Amino acid sequence: MKDLKVAFYVTGGIAVYKSISLMREFIKMGADVQVAMTPSATEFVSPLTFQVLSKHAVHIDTFSEEDPHYVQHIHLADWADVSIVAPATANTIAKLANGMADNFVTSALLATVSPIFLVPAMNEHMLEHPATQKNIETLRNRHHYVMEPETGFLAEGYSGKGRFPETEAIIEALEGFLMEFRENLPLKGKKVVVTAGGTKERIDPVRFISNDSSGKMGHALAEAAWSAGAEVTLITVSDLPSRKQINRIQIDSAAQMYEAVNQAFQEIDVLIMAAAVSDYAPLKVEEHKMKKQNQLTIELKKNPDILKEMGKKKTKQFLIGFAAETENIETYALKKLTEKNADLIVANDVGKKDRGFNSNHNEVTIYSDINQPVTIKLSKKAEIAQSIIEILIERLE
Ligand SMILES: Cc1cc2nc3c(=O)[nH]c(=O)nc-3n(C[C@H](O)[C@H](O)[C@H](O)COP(=O)(O)O)c2cc1C
Repeated sequence: MKDLKVAFYVTGGIAVYKSISLMREFIKMGADVQVAMTPSATEFVSPLTFQVLSKHAVHIDTFSEEDPHYVQHIHLADWADVSIVAPATANTIAKLANGMADNFVTSALLATVSPIFLVPAMNEHMLEHPATQKNIETLRNRHHYVMEPETGFLAEGYSGKGRFPETEAIIEALEGFLMEFRENLPLKGKKVVVTAGGTKERIDPVRFISNDSSGKMGHALAEAAWSAGAEVTLITVSDLPSRKQINRIQIDSAAQMYEAVNQAFQEIDVLIMAAAVSDYAPLKVEEHKMKKQNQLTIELKKNPDILKEMGKKKTKQFLIGFAAETENIETYALKKLTEKNADLIVANDVGKKDRGFNSNHNEVTIYSDINQPVTIKLSKKAEIAQSIIEILIERLE
C-alpha cells in the first residue's frame, strides 16, 4: 500500500463507520487516500470525519466543480492507482453492474480504468437476492474484485451473511488482488530505463548551458511504463515529481546520464531516450565563478551520443529515441533510426509554441524500423506516453 494513490468510495450502508478504520489503516500503511461519498453515505457519517483523516476534501457533488482545470470525477478516476468501494451497497453494486453514473461515486467509477475492489455489506436477504448475486457476478466477470461478506451478527439483530469483514481480512485480500493485477500486466518482468529533461553542462559553479526540455515527456513515459507493469528506472535532470515505485536517478550533465545509462544497459529490456541531451559541453569547467569580461569565448567539446553508443552495444534491448526538430522532421527522424540502430524514433516539431518542449501537449510521429509511421495528433503528453507504451508492448509481443 505504500505510496499507493487510493480512491476510497463510501456508499450508504450501516457499515460506513467501519470503513473509517479501514481508511485510517491505509493511511498508516503510507497510502495517499482521497474519499468520495454518495449522498446516502453522508446520512450515516459526516464527510468531515473522512476529510480530517484523509487530509483531502471529500467529493460528494458531481456538479460542484470548483477547479476549472479539472472535471473532478474524471480527475479522481485518472489519479487513482486503485479504487476501493467500502462499504458497497446493493444499490451502488447494481448501478455499477449496469453502467450507471448518476452521482459522483458512480460517475468516477465508470470512468476508472485502474483496478476496482469492492467490499459489499448488507442485509442477508439483499445479498442473496438473485438481482444482487447477478450484479456481483457481472462485476467479477469484469475483473473487479468483489469480496465475500462475512457471516455474523447483522445490524438487524439476527445472524446472517452480509457483514463488513474485519480490516485485516480486507487488507490481505486487497494486497493479493493488487499483486495478481500487477503480475498480469503486459510489461511485467521487463526492465525499462527512461531518460528525461534537458542536460545541464556546467560552465562554472553558478552557470550552465542547457535547453528548453522540461522532462514532462520522459516523466510521463516512466509513469506509463510503470502502469503497464514494468520495473522502471528514471534517469532525470528534471525536478518534476515521480512516484516512489519508480527508481529515480537524479543527474545533471550528459556525461552523468551516459554513465547511468551505460551502467544499467546490460540488464535492461528497453531504453527510452526522451531526454534532450546537449550535444556539447564546455571543455573546461571553471572552479570559481567567472568574472565579467568584455568578450568571452567558451570552448566546447562533443558530448557522448548516448543513443548511438547504446545502439552499437544492443543485444536484446529495444531502443526508443526522440528527434526534436524544427525542420525536415521526417528526413532527420529516418536518418536517426538507421544511424543509431534504434527500433523506434518519436519525432516532434519543437518549433511550435503550443507543443513540444516545456508544454503539456505534443504531436508526434513514430517512425519504426519495420512498420509504417504512426502520427499521434496534438494530445496531452500522458496520452502520447500511453500510445508509445502501447506500441512498445505490441513490438515486444
Ligand atoms: C439504517 C439503514 C441502513 C442501511 N444499511 C444498508 C446496508 O448495510 N447495505 C445496503 O446495501 N444498503 C443499506 N441501506 C439502504 C441504502 O442506504 C439505500 O439502498 C441507498 O439508496 C443506498 O444509496 P447509495 O448506494 O447511493 O449509497 C440502509 C438504509 C438504512 C436507512
